[in-house]
Amino acid sequence: MIVITGASSGLGAALTQLYAAENQPLLVTGRSEQKLADVIAGLTQPEQKNVKTYAADLCVAEDVSALFSRLPAPPSKVIHCAGSGYFGPIEQQAPEAINQLIHNNLTSSILVLRELVSRYRDHNVTVVVVMSTAAQAGKANESTYCAVKWAVKGLVESLRLELKGSPMKLIAVYPGGMATDFWQTSGKDINTSSFMTATEAATMLKQALIPTKHGYVSDITINRG
Ligand SMILES: NC(=O)c1ccc[n+]([C@@H]2O[C@H](COP(=O)([O-])OP(=O)(O)OC[C@H]3O[C@@H](n4cnc5c(N)ncnc54)[C@H](OP(=O)(O)O)[C@@H]3O)[C@@H](O)[C@H]2O)c1
Repeated sequence: MIVITGASSGLGAALTQLYAAENQPLLVTGRSEQKLADVIAGLTQPEQKNVKTYAADLCVAEDVSALFSRLPAPPSKVIHCAGSGYFGPIEQQAPEAINQLIHNNLTSSILVLRELVSRYRDHNVTVVVVMSTAAQAGKANESTYCAVKWAVKGLVESLRLELKGSPMKLIAVYPGGMATDFWQTSGKDINTSSFMTATEAATMLKQALIPTKHGYVSDITINRG
């Protein structure tokens, strides 16, 4: 089974569509039950049969644990797409919104990876963590967003060292701009007409996640061009 977080919107929803089209068994999650139901409604009936949904706030440890307790066996892959944005000059950013940004991106990643390592470190599970090109270089007016994504990168790189010798693999993903609801919910008024669609980014990511017998792609940057 493949688990996809952030599946109620954007990249996670597009990945859900692509994997469901191959009749892969999926457990998909987001916070909004309604948005998850809308994504499922967009699938054909045979595709829907293989997809289970579970609404969870990944900033809450009990929700994260309950999510993975629904799996009958270790998953083959977990693709962690959940996250949110918040932008602007730092002096104009509101402390509450900054805290939410930290929770949605960093706390969720810590709790998800903590749960996965504790359950599956001895299993052949591929864990894919979606960050951003904002984890690779500083950007003006994106200081707190860069900070949380850099922090997630530090988490992933440190856990790779802790997992040395374990069959669990951590794959780091750094997407550039995608035309999704992300921009609207982040409050940034921006023209996304030249950005990748979520389906384009999901298609490239899905291809890059196919391993060979003796290798896999560990770090994936998806640039818009
Ligand atoms: N869009 C871009 O240009 C862009 C570029 C680079 C990187 N990224 C990153 O790529 C990832 C996916 O972005 P996207 O564009 O697909 O965004 P999106 O369309 O806004 O979707 C975000 C998803 O994350 C979920 N989510 C947010 N906070 C959560 C929480 N606390 N617990 C559980 N689920 C939570 C949302 O669930 P609900 O809607 O159900 O609440 C939604 O399913 C994010 O990590 C984002 O930072 C985006």
